[in-house]
Amino acid sequence: MDSGRRKIVAAAGAIAAVGLGGMAMAQETKGGNAGANEQARIDGQTWDGEVWNAPLKGKVAVITGAARGIGRSIAVAMAANGADIVGIDINASVSPIVQYIAATPSDLEETGKLVKQRGRRFLGITADIRDRAALKAAATQATQTMGHVDIVVADAAIQAFKPLLEMEDHDWDDVIANNLTGSCNTLRAFAPAMVQQGKGGRIIFISSMQGRYGTKNGSAYSASKWGIIGLMKSAALELGKYKITVNTIEPGLIDTAMTHNDKRWSEAVGETMTTPPPEHPTEEETAKAKLPRTPLGVPWLQPEEVAPVAVFLATDAAKMVTGACYDVNGGDSAHDLG
Ligand SMILES: NC(=O)c1ccc[n+]([C@@H]2O[C@H](COP(=O)([O-])OP(=O)(O)OC[C@H]3O[C@@H](n4cnc5c(N)ncnc54)[C@H](O)[C@@H]3O)[C@@H](O)[C@H]2O)c1
Repeated sequence: MDSGRRKIVAAAGAIAAVGLGGMAMAQETKGGNAGANEQARIDGQTWDGEVWNAPLKGKVAVITGAARGIGRSIAVAMAANGADIVGIDINASVSPIVQYIAATPSDLEETGKLVKQRGRRFLGITADIRDRAALKAAATQATQTMGHVDIVVADAAIQAFKPLLEMEDHDWDDVIANNLTGSCNTLRAFAPAMVQQGKGGRIIFISSMQGRYGTKNGSAYSASKWGIIGLMKSAALELGKYKITVNTIEPGLIDTAMTHNDKRWSEAVGETMTTPPPEHPTEEETAKAKLPRTPLGVPWLQPEEVAPVAVFLATDAAKMVTGACYDVNGGDSAHDLG
C-alpha cells in the first residue's frame, strides 16, 4: 500500500476511533492486543470486529445496490462488524442511458459469499428500487427471514451524462426516478418495520460530492443527489421521535464500475478544462487532472474507504447523529462552502 492510500485508511480509522467514543481503544487495552490492533489500523489491513469490537452484533442491515462497488463494501464492512446482511440489487441493466457495464446475479452472489466468510447471515434479493411493490415484498421477506431490520443503506443509483440543451426526456427522468425516487421508495418500504419494532434504527442514504455542487453535463445526477440530502434532512425531522437517525454520505470520486470508464474519466478531466476534454483519456491523465483537488493526495478513493463511515453511522455510538452529511473524498470538500 502506498503512503497516500495509507493516509486515507488511517484517517478512516481515526474517524472510527473518535466516533466510537474510545470504546474500541478501551477494548484494545483490555484485550492486551493494542499494539497489533494499532499496527493493523495503520497498515489499513483491518478495521473489523477485532478493532471495533463488533459494534453491529445482533443488527440486521438492508443495503440496496449491494451487488458491487460501494454497496458491496458497506455490506462486507457491516458484516465484519457483526451485522447480518440483506443485499438488494437489480442485477441487470437499469436504463439505456447508462454507459457502463451492469451488475449481474453473480455479483450479488459474490457479495453474499464475502458476507458469509465473515460469519454472518446473508439474504440476497433481486429487486428494482423503482418498483414499490417489490420493495415492500422485500421488506416483508427481510423481516420474516432475519427477524428484524435495524439499518437501511439506500445505495443503489445510476450515473449518466448529457448537456441540458441536448437532453431527451429520459435523460432526466430515468436518473431522478432511479436515484431520488428509488431512495425514497427504499425508506418508505423499510422504515415502517423499524417504527413498528420500536427499537430505533439507522437510515443512511448515499448522496455524492456531486450533490454538494453542480456537475457540468451531469445535472440530473447532481439534482438527484442534492434531492437526497433534502430527503434525508426531512426524514431526520420526521423519524427522530422514533429514535431513527437519518444521514447521508457524500463520496468523492470512487473507483467502481460506475466511474472506471472512458465517459466518467472524460467528464472528470473536462472539469479542469475550458476546451472539450479527450473522449478516451488514460487513467494517468485522469489521475493528473483530479489530484490537485485532494489534499490527501489521491485522485480517487476505493469503496472500502467509504464503508467505515457507514459502519460508524450505524453504531450505537452515532445515536445522536442525525440530519447530517458526511463527506468522504480525500479532502475535495475543503473546496466547498459547507
Ligand atoms: N463511484 C463514485 O465515484 C461515487 C461517488 C459518489 C457517490 N456514489 C454513489 O454511491 C452509490 C454506489 O455507487 P457505485 O460507484 O458503487 O456504483 P455501481 O454501479 O458499482 O453500484 C451501484 C449498484 O446499484 C445497483 N442499482 C442501480 N439502480 C438500481 C435499481 N433501480 N434497483 C436496484 N439496484 C440498482 C446496480 O445494479 C449496482 O450494483 C451510488 O448511490 C452512487 O451514486 C458513487
